[in-house]
Amino acid sequence: MKVLIADPISKQCRKTLLQLPGLEVVEETDISAADLQDLLADCEGLIVRSRTKVTRELIEAASRLRVIGRAGTGIDNIDIEAATRRGILVMNTPGENTISAAEHTFSLLLAMARNIPRAVRQVTDGGWKDRTLLGTEIFGKVLGIVGLGRIGREVAIRGKAFGMRVIGHDPFLTDQMATLVQVPLMSLENLLRQSDIVTLHVPHTPKTRHLIGETELKLCKKTVRFINCARGGLIDENALLGAIEAGRVAGAALDVFESEPPGKHPLLRRPEVIATPHLGASTREAQDKVAIRIAEQIVRFLRDGAMENPVNALGLEPEMLERLRPFRWLAERLGNLHAQLAHERLQQVTVEFRGGVLDYPTQPITAALLKGYLEKFLTDPVNYVNALFLAEHKGIQLKEVKQREHEDFANLITATFHFSDRVRTISGALLGRNNPRIVRLDNYYFDAIPEGEILICSNDDRPGIIGKIGNILGTARINIANLSMGRDHTGGRAIAILNLDQEVPEKIQSELQAVEGMLWVRRAHL
Ligand code: NAD
Ligand code: MLT
Repeated sequence: MKVLIADPISKQCRKTLLQLPGLEVVEETDISAADLQDLLADCEGLIVRSRTKVTRELIEAASRLRVIGRAGTGIDNIDIEAATRRGILVMNTPGENTISAAEHTFSLLLAMARNIPRAVRQVTDGGWKDRTLLGTEIFGKVLGIVGLGRIGREVAIRGKAFGMRVIGHDPFLTDQMATLVQVPLMSLENLLRQSDIVTLHVPHTPKTRHLIGETELKLCKKTVRFINCARGGLIDENALLGAIEAGRVAGAALDVFESEPPGKHPLLRRPEVIATPHLGASTREAQDKVAIRIAEQIVRFLRDGAMENPVNALGLEPEMLERLRPFRWLAERLGNLHAQLAHERLQQVTVEFRGGVLDYPTQPITAALLKGYLEKFLTDPVNYVNALFLAEHKGIQLKEVKQREHEDFANLITATFHFSDRVRTISGALLGRNNPRIVRLDNYYFDAIPEGEILICSNDDRPGIIGKIGNILGTARINIANLSMGRDHTGGRAIAILNLDQEVPEKIQSELQAVEGMLWVRRAHL
């Protein structure tokens, strides 16, 4: 296996990756998009920071790619939808550079309040102080924090330590977190009206693009100063420039830009603006931490399938992964069996969980069921990362139902597949920890093993039919390993599920189908 490191990153990354025996690590941190595409052709893993743009074209051309690791927090340089569609796991390392980003925000805040960059330039140019270097105290000033996530909260702690009055805006904060943070929360409009300094700590998404534009800037005090140490694009740069030129904003400290590097951006010629080249996470400590963390996560994913800090899947630590393994195995086979029995267009799948299985996250089990179903139809690879996404894009509605107990089974997974004019129900259960069984098909109950060659016969419930099935299979030298039967009522209809040691040729299936009283015969391989 091969992993490509495409952005400059601490040496610790390579060192940690090489702990996985047999893994080849290639480091090419200054290459064109075309060269990157060539290099990626035989790589299972890719590691980037924010410089490399992992575009749809790149993802679609990388046929062996299984995982993209972002050594850092922001994932706006990766086309997540394209990766998910292809079943490529995207993971990041949130939290490892939080302190560095918060400290850099505060460096910018103090540097802006005391005109440090200009003062340094003046002294090094042989000058001394003048009136333009008169600064402002931050003690007692109102610090408005937009986004009280990991970094925003650390900035709040530092603001309070400096005697600032901290206020915040974050519509997605849970009540529990809001209480913990101890920052008065308010609307963005109120925050902008009250703040002396506004600092942004939200992700860049289509919804937060130009969160601060002309309208928002007009709400602010004329003495307001902005800090953006999150992502370029959160502030409309043209609107900011206009407001500074018009004297409606006193200053701005920018670590990030809509386009990086910003080149000769007119904002950078303004004395009210100070800027750094996306340095928020650039400390030795943060870089070592993100490098080691992403390498460890990738090693565990490639070795065991563990998903830590996933962006496009549910996180599963190695221990949980191990416990879920038998349930996912069973669910995948239920989906797979269904795919081999039905040929109509599926409209909805309802997955019902009962009993002990509810002690585990159910979404990975549903994903396994859909993987088993979809991979029988799709040519593109289907895996645990893209199964839910692909199902949704095929217009299949998904519903999970959770019920605590079942009178007969310690745990039970039931998948009901809805078509335009009928439904099919398949249930599976685990006996003990590791003995999966198919226990129900529509209204018939069984004890069948969901593995290997399977024959399902539906017939009238009358004497002699099973004997005839045995005779036909015996004559064809096909051994029956297990036979389980269910019926609706005496003399009604019956279904037999047979586990066989050999595959049933089409000719034998036709012979079975011709048995008097036989309704239908299906073969499946699990
Ligand atoms: P986080 O996910 O922990 O926090 C983001 C917060 O923003 C969340 O609490 C969320 O509820 C809130 N939010 C989302 N939309 C919002 C909106 N419209 N209004 C108000 N709040 C909103 O993220 P984090 O780790 O704190 O990172 C914050 C930002 O900093 C990200 O953009 C990240 O990419 C960036 N970052 C930059 C650097 C750098 O080098 N400059 C370093 C690290 C992180
Ligand atoms: C991040 O989102 O983590 C930052 O942009 C830091 C970086 O990788 O440069």
